[in-house]
Amino acid sequence: MRAMPSGYTGPRPPQRPPAVESGYRHCASVDDLPPGQVERLYKRARLLQSMLERGIHLPQTLEHRLGITCFLEPSTRTRVSFEAAALRLGMQLISITAADSSLAKGESDRDTRLTLESYWPDTLIVRTAEAGLPQRWAMDATCSVINGGDGTNEHPSQALYDRYTLWEALGNYRTPTLLFVGDIVHSRVVGSHVRLAALLGTRVYLAGPPAWTTVEEKFAPWPGAWEVVDLESFLPRADAVCALRVQTERGAATGVSLEEYIAGWQLTAERLDRLAPQAMLLHPAPVNRGVELSPELVESPRSWIQRQGGNGQAVRMALLEWCQGVQW
Ligand code: CP
Repeated sequence: MRAMPSGYTGPRPPQRPPAVESGYRHCASVDDLPPGQVERLYKRARLLQSMLERGIHLPQTLEHRLGITCFLEPSTRTRVSFEAAALRLGMQLISITAADSSLAKGESDRDTRLTLESYWPDTLIVRTAEAGLPQRWAMDATCSVINGGDGTNEHPSQALYDRYTLWEALGNYRTPTLLFVGDIVHSRVVGSHVRLAALLGTRVYLAGPPAWTTVEEKFAPWPGAWEVVDLESFLPRADAVCALRVQTERGAATGVSLEEYIAGWQLTAERLDRLAPQAMLLHPAPVNRGVELSPELVESPRSWIQRQGGNGQAVRMALLEWCQGVQW
């Protein structure tokens, strides 16, 4: 913010330095990750996850640090896994939502953030319906800002742990052919995947009704990192197929009827029979069983959906450490 001219010459309140001067990093976007960082994050996530799964006490690398989660839209996975990740590494946590904070009384998001920053937290983790809010917060924040999903724009930690799941299952996170199906245009998950594919020098494939795959403008900055394909003919080429939730709250109801969607693009046992035998089924969830997927597929042998969600905790532990400047 530009300083306003003022005749005031009295004492000024103490100023907290900008985040980067204190050694914090942001993850408001996949664009905040340097090339090469993804593999380091994955190796750290795998180490922490294996310790957790073997009952080994985790290093308290975030002890004496304070995080505030600001979930201004509903969430189960992102909120709980970030909070679990932070608590497991010793971070102390406070959580607010839109409904139980003064946002409900009309306070602006900027005034809310400035108030939260006055308590000297080490990180703010924010989810919001407003595309661009986490990136705006990060511009002049005094602590790390992590994007837990902003409107139809980005969900960087989701994209990171989706590819981590490919690494776990297939031994490679860059080369597997990853196909997204459904409501592409409203998906912040795909927004981050396209950026992540560009960062890794690879490509994601997108299939769905024409009204939901009109993304030429949205993804124009990353040519080569995405391609719209025909679902039926592409299925045999996919190493992983990731269904997406139909985002009715973001306008998905226009352009395609639910009946049309289910007939043309729902992932059914018949459609999945066209996949290679080792190909995986993913979904960032929450799943609308019977819309994006036939209900029984969620818990079918091909499904990695529950493990994918669990991997969110592991990758978010590593991400929190990186954002706090923890050395590995
Ligand atoms: N995948 C995901 O962001 O889920 P939640 O909305 O439950 O956080």
